[in-house]
Amino acid sequence: MRLFSVLWSFFVSALVVFANNTPSTTSGSFVTAQGNQFQVNGSQFRWIGTTAYWLPALNTEQDIIDTLSNMSAAGITVVKTWAFNDVETIPENGTWFQLVANGTTTVNTGPNGLQKLDMVMKHAERFGIYVVLSLTNNWNPRPLFDDLKTSIDNLTNSVESRSFQRRDITPGTNNSLPRNFLSNDYGGMDIYVRQFGLQNHDEFYQNETLITAFENYTRQVITRYVNSTAVFSWEIANDPRCNSTVPASSGCKTTTVTMWHKRLADHIRSIDPNHLISTGSQGFLCPDCEKLFTPTTPPPQPSPAPGQRRKNVPAPLTKKRIIQERVAQWKKTRRAAAPPEGGIQIRGRWVSTPTRRQADTGVGSAFDGSQGVDSEDIANIPNIGFSTFQLFPDQFSYGPPDPSLPEFNQTVEIGNDWIRSHAEAGARVGKPVALTGFGLVTNDNKPFFVPFNSSVASFPNATSTSQGFGAAPQNTSQAIGVTNDQQVDAYSQWVNTGLVSGLQGIMQYQWGQRGLTSQEGTTISPNDDTTTTSPNEDTTTTSPNDGYSAQAVSSGPSAQGVLQSASQQISNSLSLT
Ligand SMILES: *[C@@H]1O[C@H](CO)[C@@H](O)[C@H](O)[C@H]1NC(C)=O
Ligand SMILES: *[C@@H]1O[C@H](CO)[C@@H](O)[C@H](O)[C@H]1NC(C)=O
Ligand SMILES: *[C@@H]1O[C@H](CO)[C@@H](O)[C@H](O)[C@H]1NC(C)=O
Ligand SMILES: *[C@@H]1O[C@H](CO)[C@@H](O)[C@H](O)[C@H]1NC(C)=O
Ligand SMILES: *[C@@H]1O[C@H](CO)[C@@H](O)[C@H](O)[C@H]1NC(C)=O
Ligand SMILES: *[C@@H]1O[C@H](CO)[C@@H](O)[C@H](O)[C@H]1NC(C)=O
Ligand SMILES: *[C@@H]1O[C@H](CO)[C@@H](O)[C@H](O)[C@H]1NC(C)=O
Ligand SMILES: *[C@@H]1O[C@H](CO)[C@@H](O)[C@H](O)[C@H]1NC(C)=O
Ligand SMILES: *[C@@H]1O[C@H](CO)[C@@H](O)[C@H](O)[C@H]1NC(C)=O
Ligand SMILES: *[C@@H]1O[C@H](CO)[C@@H](O)[C@H](O)[C@H]1NC(C)=O
Ligand SMILES: *[C@@H]1O[C@H](CO)[C@@H](O)[C@H](O)[C@H]1NC(C)=O
Ligand SMILES: *[C@@H]1O[C@H](CO)[C@@H](O)[C@H](O)[C@H]1NC(C)=O
Repeated sequence: MRLFSVLWSFFVSALVVFANNTPSTTSGSFVTAQGNQFQVNGSQFRWIGTTAYWLPALNTEQDIIDTLSNMSAAGITVVKTWAFNDVETIPENGTWFQLVANGTTTVNTGPNGLQKLDMVMKHAERFGIYVVLSLTNNWNPRPLFDDLKTSIDNLTNSVESRSFQRRDITPGTNNSLPRNFLSNDYGGMDIYVRQFGLQNHDEFYQNETLITAFENYTRQVITRYVNSTAVFSWEIANDPRCNSTVPASSGCKTTTVTMWHKRLADHIRSIDPNHLISTGSQGFLCPDCEKLFTPTTPPPQPSPAPGQRRKNVPAPLTKKRIIQERVAQWKKTRRAAAPPEGGIQIRGRWVSTPTRRQADTGVGSAFDGSQGVDSEDIANIPNIGFSTFQLFPDQFSYGPPDPSLPEFNQTVEIGNDWIRSHAEAGARVGKPVALTGFGLVTNDNKPFFVPFNSSVASFPNATSTSQGFGAAPQNTSQAIGVTNDQQVDAYSQWVNTGLVSGLQGIMQYQWGQRGLTSQEGTTISPNDDTTTTSPNEDTTTTSPNDGYSAQAVSSGPSAQGVLQSASQQISNSLSLT
């Protein structure tokens, strides 16, 4: 409770002091990467961001303005959104960008098409917010039409039983989320795989016809904003990897995904000389994987921030070092932690210190290449401008936790370790490092939680190991759902670790917005089906919630408050330099 009170007073004072602070305008110039920093106009640009994949799907221009205005007021200077919205048939209402059907593609440049994205870019620039434009998504699961329970069970079965189905929008089922409600309901890689009559997810990375179709789409979007100073970066894909709901072929390896990034990065650079290019991968590391790229010699590092020592380029990553460093960190954390008192343990219990054997049981899927991602190799691609990673402990494993800690503390520490691993990996690469998405599901949000590779809420009893959706982690048995105070605690610790370890950008997932306009058959639909357990209390006016939505709260600590304080901390430290 003590730490928490301290944090709480920190946020309260931060809010009081900075409530009237006008956010500075950051746009008007392209963002570049110099050494390990982002720069705008020759000055360092370090940022706090959020994700609102649904921004272009909002129903009115005023909704877009209000959302960006609220973000700006919270100190947000970078927002990530989906620059894709693929459909298999043209919907009656709502936004769509591209029809992908029967092996052909058609881009929608109309008022319910890319003109919606134009609106987002125009107003983002006005509010001094840069936009990360993600160009496609790894995830696009299709629920079975009839039996909800069976369809969940069948997600782990064969591709035939699950991948060519339509979203069930039947009123009265729990599966009636409007189109574009979930982040994985905007098309993406698997829509191309299905509509071009192919079978494996990784054919998206390898089949020339599909690559050409995707390059064709990206060319049209990129050309549209090639000279826009509101673009932060082109994110080649959200969460790319070998597997999805449509399974990978046995031949898919980390190098398959890396080569595809190289091809797309070169393609984007050939169209757009102005903007940074990034991947939206989860950031899995793989010390033992075959490498295609080596770091270009890191340029001289700019002066370290005040109070930080200049660091040498760290030694190459090995599995042995990951374990050694984790164990050393555990000891440090334990020394720093207050001894357990009655009532301080949150969930879980104290167990004995791990034996050498326990600590040596392997590093898990975040470090062994099994997901088909070697983010360090991707970051070394010459046209990739900066290193990225994400943090979603409810869905993925990031290596062995300290077994002596309570469950919640394990989650927090795993996140801190993952952030430090990436700060270090980024120093080897010699480019800026950004955390491009993090989130922890609260008990309040748990009924709405939909994993990225699923399409139905909810899993009230699920633990992260029992989901088995291909996206499921190993090594963790943390039950899903923390208190709101724990979420604020975890977020502030992660953000703080990120700032201290030198991350140049930190992005929360995802923004929650109230007061939006509803329209039948769109993302923000009126909820007139009273038998449905709505994922939102108030579907008529609230932005989508997949379990991570964080709305503003009128008093007390909140996720948005963490972002606001961090943003202020960055402004203060930058103005000292
Ligand atoms: C960068 O320079 C441009 C043009 O002078 C200006 O409009 C913009 O506000 C500057 N941006 C920052 C972050 O200083
Ligand atoms: C968000 O924007 C709306 C509309 O401009 C405004 O009424 C509201 O006070 C804002 N909320 C916050 C938390 O800034
Ligand atoms: C795709 O082909 C099928 C079968 O030929 C046809 O029924 C369907 O309308 C086509 N879809 C589109 C969007 O053209
Ligand atoms: C490229 O996109 C355009 C416009 O949407 C479409 O007409 C054309 O068929 C596409 N070409 C290829 C090769 O997919
Ligand atoms: C789910 O899978 C089982 C076993 O593979 C199969 O018998 C059943 O028909 C499938 N259910 C649906 C709705 O496809
Ligand atoms: C919807 O979900 C709720 C809560 O899990 C459950 O009580 C209800 O029976 C479900 N309704 C249907 C139609 O499956
Ligand atoms: C690539 O996809 C196209 C379009 O579906 C298909 O005709 C072709 O056979 C595929 N190529 C390979 C090598 O699988
Ligand atoms: C972008 O700016 C360049 C340089 O000024 C110009 O040549 C090009 O035509 C512009 N592109 C678009 C799409 O406006
Ligand atoms: C666990 O986390 C809580 C909340 O941050 C903290 O108060 C407590 O000291 C931690 N316990 C250990 C053993 O690290
Ligand atoms: C979920 O948990 C509740 C309370 O622990 C229990 O009563 C219920 O049977 C569980 N449901 C499932 C589907 O396991
Ligand atoms: C990825 O897919 C392959 C082939 O379908 C499978 O063998 C492997 O277990 C999957 N990996 C994960 C992490 O789900
Ligand atoms: C599309 O919007 C109109 C006007 O709001 C509405 O009457 C119609 O039912 C909507 N269509 C669908 C499929 O939701």
